[in-house]
Amino acid sequence: MIKACLFDLDGVIVDTAKYHFIAWKQLAREMGFDFTEQDNERLKGVSRMASLDILLEIGGVTKTEQEKEELAHRKNEHYVSFITQMKPDEILPGAREFLLACKDAGLATALGSASKNAMTILNRLELNDLFDAIIDGTHTSKAKPDPEVFLKGAEALAADPENCVVFEDAEAGVEAALAAGMYCVGIGSSEVLNKAHLIIEGLHQMTLDQLENLQ
Ligand code: G6P
Ligand code: MG
Repeated sequence: MIKACLFDLDGVIVDTAKYHFIAWKQLAREMGFDFTEQDNERLKGVSRMASLDILLEIGGVTKTEQEKEELAHRKNEHYVSFITQMKPDEILPGAREFLLACKDAGLATALGSASKNAMTILNRLELNDLFDAIIDGTHTSKAKPDPEVFLKGAEALAADPENCVVFEDAEAGVEAALAAGMYCVGIGSSEVLNKAHLIIEGLHQMTLDQLENLQ
């Protein structure tokens, strides 16, 4: 029986991938190489520093730890300049409605995101009140596919993992949910998310009835 819903942020509640893409592309350009939208797919669900490592690998560039800190900081400043302009109309279709349906049905809700900018985004989207717990990149030390973020979410909600369902758009996120012993609804393509219990295009396709059929 599902008692709690845990949501990834980027790609599930809001499409921030486009802003990450512009910011990483700019950084790549400054270093003298190109970064494509296809490359950007590799960064979904991946932490900031791990994303930078992938970017540098694509460009065939080596940097010291100190230079990497500076580059990640620069990318984040650029990214933050976009997300601080976000408006509630950027919430993905059905996300707000499904969160409200969870609340009405008495299901607990948590955010489980790798992003250190999650609070800024939730504030801009005016969604904070719809989450009973918020676990983000400032609360975790192990990146997905490690289950830490979702286990912390379940703990904050006082829910057993077997009573939790995770909504995820990234392969590493699906793996994290399964490693936590939770149900998982994949959001996106079945090729990437085939380990999930159910795959949908977006939360607009999700109903509470479907939660009962997961088991
Ligand atoms: C999410 C996104 C990733 C991003 C990561 C860290 O998982 O899908 O693309 O790199 O968060 O985000 P941050 O806002 O902390 O740089
Ligand atoms: Mg995501």
